[in-house]
Amino acid sequence: MKKVGNHNSISRKLFFSLALMLTFSLTSFAQVAAPAATEATAAPAATTGGDPVKGKGLFNANCAACHKLDARSTGPALRGVSGKYEMSWIYKWVNNSSDLIKSGDADAVKVFEENNKAVMTAFPQLSNADIDNIIAYTSEPKAEAPAATGAVAAPGAAAQESGISNNVILGALALVMAMLVIMLFLVNNVLRKVAKANGIEVAPKKPSISIWKAFAKNQFLVLVTSIFLLLASAYFVYGYLMQVGVDQDYSPIQPIHFSHKIHAGDNEINCKYCHSAARVSKNAGIPSLNVCMNCHKNIAEVAETTATPEYSKAFYDEQIQKLYTAVGWDKTTQSYTGKTQPVKWIRIHNLPDFVYFNHSQHVTVAGIECQTCHGPVQEYEIQKQFAPLTMGWCIDCHRKTDVKMEGNEYYAKIHEQLSKKYGVEKLTAAQMGGLECGKCHY
Ligand code: HEC
Ligand code: HEC
Ligand code: HEC
Ligand code: HEC
Ligand code: HEC
Ligand code: HEC
Repeated sequence: MKKVGNHNSISRKLFFSLALMLTFSLTSFAQVAAPAATEATAAPAATTGGDPVKGKGLFNANCAACHKLDARSTGPALRGVSGKYEMSWIYKWVNNSSDLIKSGDADAVKVFEENNKAVMTAFPQLSNADIDNIIAYTSEPKAEAPAATGAVAAPGAAAQESGISNNVILGALALVMAMLVIMLFLVNNVLRKVAKANGIEVAPKKPSISIWKAFAKNQFLVLVTSIFLLLASAYFVYGYLMQVGVDQDYSPIQPIHFSHKIHAGDNEINCKYCHSAARVSKNAGIPSLNVCMNCHKNIAEVAETTATPEYSKAFYDEQIQKLYTAVGWDKTTQSYTGKTQPVKWIRIHNLPDFVYFNHSQHVTVAGIECQTCHGPVQEYEIQKQFAPLTMGWCIDCHRKTDVKMEGNEYYAKIHEQLSKKYGVEKLTAAQMGGLECGKCHY
């Protein structure tokens, strides 16, 4: 039959265009992968035996309060300091510089005099290997400006390209869908023509109103359908109401972009350094800006390597400048101007007023990690609400979690009585009374 051949050629066209779209989207994927590969080869070379990556963490945690790499701060710039002294001298200096100065070491006395006799903190806790790591970090060559912008530009371009390729893929899919619809229409037409040519009758559509009339007449069907509709809508309304007031994943934009990933993750600053109240009181609290300035008097900008495709160095530096504006710190004169303006952090976690929740009870007494309730905060670029904070969530954990009894005088007696009562060795928070309404509700 000749007409069927016609039909075939249409589906062949269809396959061809599909194949074309596929190859097109695959090549755009390949382009995205390329810059990532070139980036990986540009690792910096260390000059001493230490590990510059570990050194950076140690430097930021211990030394950054007084030293910068390339500019003087409270102490001299430290880049290339390994060229000035023997490592053995540096170990002694860092472990206890005052001792070295008192011992009359000429170099030590000289640098002490040159810096207006400012006293450097002693770090007896740092091992020689730690100091090796720090010195390896200070020995890294300064990132050349053009090279650095190149490095930053590459991931940026990659991001842009992945954006483009996503668009290409979406566009291609839409096109394929549109083509499919057109093809179906054409195929339908061709088939009708074939049928007509062969003298087959195509039954005309029955008028659709009759179905509705038939339906309306059948009372049983009407009853079943309306019950079904009622149940379905009740289900959705219930689901909706249960969602009210549950703000899981709530992640507002804060007045200063503060990255927990950079602070608690990359620089390993302990949660409790900033949220110090979590250990001892009901609220964990947000740190005051004075706490920030302990470090940020000397950290006015982030390293080139901190920038990501999403957030540039300029963006991060602007955020630190916002901190300075808020506390009234003039970084050129290194002094407070006295003009301050409060930072209004937007509260993320918020239980209703009728619920009592106490951090120290959970963090100190129960020994629960922050991450159990707040998620992997050290990976959050932007803070968010990890847990649902519903009553079911609290109760669920109280049922599952054993109370830590060891080394806790307070529990020794209660434990004995209760474990007799329940006939078990271990007690969950629920068995201790963690399900009593009054414990959580005022
Ligand atoms: C409390 C501020 C402070 C801290 C923290 C600090 N330093 Fe210093 N550092 C100084 C000062 C000030 C000097 C200049 C000498 C002096 O006045 O004692 C100095 C000098 C030095 C020198 C000699 C530099 C030169 O060019 O001669 C080295 C090396 C050094 N510090 C290493 C470190 C390392 C490593 C750390 C971190 C483990 C560190 N410092 C932490 C204040 C500090
Ligand atoms: C350098 C200080 C600092 C460190 C370290 C730090 N935080 Fe924060 N944290 C803040 C600031 C500032 C905010 C308020 C801004 C925001 O929400 O991002 C905050 C907000 C939060 C919030 C949300 C508060 C709310 O409004 O409900 C949680 C939860 C939190 N931090 C947990 C942690 C945990 C867990 C760690 C350790 C892994 C940690 N933080 C380490 C400073 C810090
Ligand atoms: C223990 C030291 C320390 C404390 C305390 C600290 N920071 Fe930082 N901060 C750092 C370090 C280190 C960096 C990263 C520098 C880099 O990457 O070169 C940084 C980077 C930043 C940045 C740029 C990256 C980002 O997160 O957007 C901002 C903004 C910032 N800090 C704000 C704050 C605020 C606000 C506080 C107080 C709530 C604070 N910091 C407390 C050490 C600290
Ligand atoms: C057992 C679960 C749990 C643990 C463990 C926990 N939190 Fe919370 N956190 C909560 C709940 C629930 C809230 C909301 C409290 C409210 O609204 O009264 C909250 C609120 C916060 C807030 C907002 C401000 C405030 O004080 O209410 C911060 C900041 C915070 N937590 C930090 C921490 C840090 C840091 C740790 C670890 C030292 C920690 N949390 C451990 C459950 C927990
Ligand atoms: C990750 C598990 C966990 C979650 C989530 C949790 N708790 Fe607890 N909670 C415990 C444990 C364990 C104890 C027992 C601590 C102890 O040794 O006293 C406890 C104890 C308590 C107590 C004291 C009970 C008593 O017998 O004195 C209260 C009140 C409480 N939790 C409230 C809450 C509220 C409110 C929430 C939800 C917002 C919550 N908890 C979420 C684990 C959890
Ligand atoms: C472990 C802590 C805890 C215990 C025990 C507890 N609740 Fe709750 N309850 C909560 C929390 C948290 C909320 C807030 C939930 C929300 O905001 O979604 C809540 C909310 C409620 C609400 C408001 C309705 C709702 O779901 O938001 C009622 C009513 C309530 N609780 C009754 C009780 C009664 C009755 C008991 C005793 C059988 C009890 N609760 C025991 C933590 C607890």
